[in-house]
Amino acid sequence: MHSFQYRNQQLHCEGVDLERVAEKFGTPLYVYSAGTITDHYDRLDRALGELDRRICYAAKANSNRAILSLLARAGAGFDIVSGGELFRVLAAGGKAESCTFAGVGKSRDEIEYALDERVHSFNVESEAELELINRVAKAKGVRAPIAVRVNPEVAAGHHKYISTGTSKNKFGIAIDRVAAVYEKASRLPNVLLRGVQMHLGSQITDAQPFADAITKLRPLVVDLKGRYGIEFFSIGGGVGIVYESSVESGSEAWWEGALGAAQRALTIDDYASAIVPPLRGLGLRILLEPGRLLAGNAGVLLTRVRYIKRTAQKEFVIVDAGMNDLIRPALYQSYHEIVPVRRSSDPARKRVDVVGPVCESGDFFAQDRELSKMQEGDLVAIMSAGAYGFAMASNYNSRPLPAEALVNADRCALIRERQTYRDLVRGERDPGF
Ligand code: LLP
Repeated sequence: MHSFQYRNQQLHCEGVDLERVAEKFGTPLYVYSAGTITDHYDRLDRALGELDRRICYAAKANSNRAILSLLARAGAGFDIVSGGELFRVLAAGGKAESCTFAGVGKSRDEIEYALDERVHSFNVESEAELELINRVAKAKGVRAPIAVRVNPEVAAGHHKYISTGTSKNKFGIAIDRVAAVYEKASRLPNVLLRGVQMHLGSQITDAQPFADAITKLRPLVVDLKGRYGIEFFSIGGGVGIVYESSVESGSEAWWEGALGAAQRALTIDDYASAIVPPLRGLGLRILLEPGRLLAGNAGVLLTRVRYIKRTAQKEFVIVDAGMNDLIRPALYQSYHEIVPVRRSSDPARKRVDVVGPVCESGDFFAQDRELSKMQEGDLVAIMSAGAYGFAMASNYNSRPLPAEALVNADRCALIRERQTYRDLVRGERDPGF
């Protein structure tokens, strides 16, 4: 489900006209639908109803406090990858004991902070990290709860930067080393073996790799439970979403089975029916770490057309958002649908590049794409920008970070102020020489 629909030719988020939101808060502006996020959470939770489960939202996808707080209230735990994310979760009213702390390069300070706050577990990604966690826990006189992240050697994920489940990348511990690592960990006095973890990659639009990896790890998981009494099996995140659909053509089937040029949605039910059978009867709590699935289709980036520029070869639509606001097209050649906020009655379409103001040729949102005709001042929505959108934004070209707003039914609130020029230089110092 997503809650972006045209009403009277105006694109709405839930009950709120996006034109009005842009007038109120300016552009570029991220707008999120609270209803979509909680709907996705509830549906995933229900689809896994027969399992003992906990959904730990991957905070990296969108870590605005209001979003974290919405999910904490819905009952979610959190998958965190830094001290900063732990701080955010706590600031949003989430509980440390619902947090699993992942990441290949945790610092000593982060480990100390997470131990002090009593996170649910550390996902250990190397033997060196295991030893450091043990030392830090010893110095504090505590036992650090851990799970080892197993690299399942199952390839999946739509782009090489976000495929993580094979030994070609830095994540996890090779499956044939895992038994030895648990054995070693079981002899460390300040470590408590609490679970086992895996993650395949991101934007996976086929359920089979998830089922294959679970099936592959199952004997190992059963063995670890028998030997060490582990309590949970985290199967990671990575469920893909639909980026190509057509809100413009009036389709409401963005999520459920929508067909884009090349994409079929992996529905929550498809995913659940693939993963539940191999997880049945394990007698372990199953942890899931979805990020994009919950937030991706729940957000848009609103941007206004500044200029139309024609060259001998192309027509450029220059908008006020740039790659610093949404880097996915530049970084992963990702497709994001672009639609007008006011739908025109003119059926004419034009092949254009939609680009930002940043001084890089990689600063584009669409290239050679047929879109309905646009004019200076038009407001457009870049769809499916709720995950890894603002979270990856930067100040490149000294552009202030965009604002963020949250819609709930017919209400809309600013959840992050737009940065000012003053914010850009805050913390910078004159060296005095
Ligand atoms: N768990 C672990 C261990 C992860 O590394 C990730 C994502 C997740 C869960 C959540 O994955 P999701 O359910 O959101 O696919 N910036 C990229 C995506 C990077 C994902 C990194 N890890 C993008 O914009 O596509």
